[in-house]
Amino acid sequence: MNDDTFSQISASLETAYALHQRAMDASISGITIADTSLEGMPLTYINQAFAHITGYDVDAVLGRNCRFLQGEDRLQPELDVLREALNAGRSCRVTLRNYRRDGTLFINELSMSPIYGRDGQLTHFVGIQNDVTELHQARQALIQKQIVLESTVRELRETQMMLVHAERMNALGQMVAGIAHEINNPLSFVTSNLHSLNDILRNVFSAYDELESLVRQSPYPETKQRAGDLRVQSEIDYAVSDIDDLVRASIEGLQRMKGIVQGLRTFARLDEAEFKVASIRECVTSALMIAGGELGGRITVNLDIDDVPPIYCCPAELNQVFLNLIVNAAQSMPERGTIDILAEDSDSRIVISVKDSGLGMPPHVLTNLFTPFFTTKPAGVGVGLGLAIAHKIITERHKGTIQVQSELGKGTVFQITLPKDIRR
Ligand SMILES: Nc1ncnc2c1ncn2[C@@H]1O[C@H](COP(=O)(O)OP(=O)(O)OP(=O)(O)O)[C@@H](O)[C@H]1O
Ligand SMILES: [Mg+2]
Repeated sequence: MNDDTFSQISASLETAYALHQRAMDASISGITIADTSLEGMPLTYINQAFAHITGYDVDAVLGRNCRFLQGEDRLQPELDVLREALNAGRSCRVTLRNYRRDGTLFINELSMSPIYGRDGQLTHFVGIQNDVTELHQARQALIQKQIVLESTVRELRETQMMLVHAERMNALGQMVAGIAHEINNPLSFVTSNLHSLNDILRNVFSAYDELESLVRQSPYPETKQRAGDLRVQSEIDYAVSDIDDLVRASIEGLQRMKGIVQGLRTFARLDEAEFKVASIRECVTSALMIAGGELGGRITVNLDIDDVPPIYCCPAELNQVFLNLIVNAAQSMPERGTIDILAEDSDSRIVISVKDSGLGMPPHVLTNLFTPFFTTKPAGVGVGLGLAIAHKIITERHKGTIQVQSELGKGTVFQITLPKDIRR
């Protein structure tokens, strides 16, 4: 190579080098080069933007490993990703908490790439660094806002659920209480009238007997005969014993009606929506009475709930829970079926299970069961609140648990555990 060619090559190399140098310094991203052949992989190059971002100048960083940017903040999961890539000679992109020379934090979006020599040996790593602190802060603020928003939506849904529930309960409670009240008045006077009627009839019959015995003493045989015929024709003897039976049966019927009205009142308990010691049997039977229409004659209900002591609870709310479970069970049995309700004493708790022989549930229904407004029923049949409300009443109000097991085609069991006394 002659001198001219040499100086030409060296001039063009110088130009290329100067261009690269200017390009590196023109970059707004920090650029570093670390030498892997040296002990501790120290930095051998930084551009101006790196100095600008970090506050460190060339003299302060060359010869040091880049990790000084982390300060004492070493517990960062992204550092593991970086270390792994460095060990494997791979490129990677990580976001790190780094610290400027003045100690202030900045978020560094770093991409690290390996540089291989002609012989395929790893010689260096080039790092491109961007200060994304503002972006990061904006993202964090957005995440915070989203969290607040999500919890507001959750709260709104809960409030909406409780409002719908309260409205429903209020309407149902008032209707039930209204019916109970309306039936109660005529029931009282029909009962009292029936007793009066019975007394009056007895008086009439004894007057009749007396009259008849007077007639029998009559000197006129025709009159005596007529009186005898009249007793036979009018079937007075049967009437006396029939009326006894009729009155007894009617009084029994009225007493049953009284029981039903009492049941309706117990269910409504408009004046007793508070915690008190109450029997689960009462809650279940009054719920069954209200669900009667839904059960029709097609569903057999087996009760085994006598072995548990009264518990401290809110009966008006537990009525709701049992009503919701019983109605769901009935709705899952379009034809005939059975509901078994069992209560057991278990130390400081009681365990109640409601088992049906209905259609059961597929997994996606099971996982959404207690979500407010989740329903598989057509509009007008289900709102999707029954179990959400039951869950809230059992877990939040009574500190109990509610669990479900279901098999498609076989049926479903809901199991509720309730502390006997949540005050303890
Ligand atoms: N015993 C059961 N057998 C089969 N599926 C059930 C049973 N209980 C609940 N489900 C399913 O769970 C869903 C949610 O029940 P939930 O009681 O919360 O609402 P709903 O019955 O649809 O409506 P609502 O009770 O508000 O009238 C039901 O739509 C039904 O698909
Ligand atoms: Mg329901």
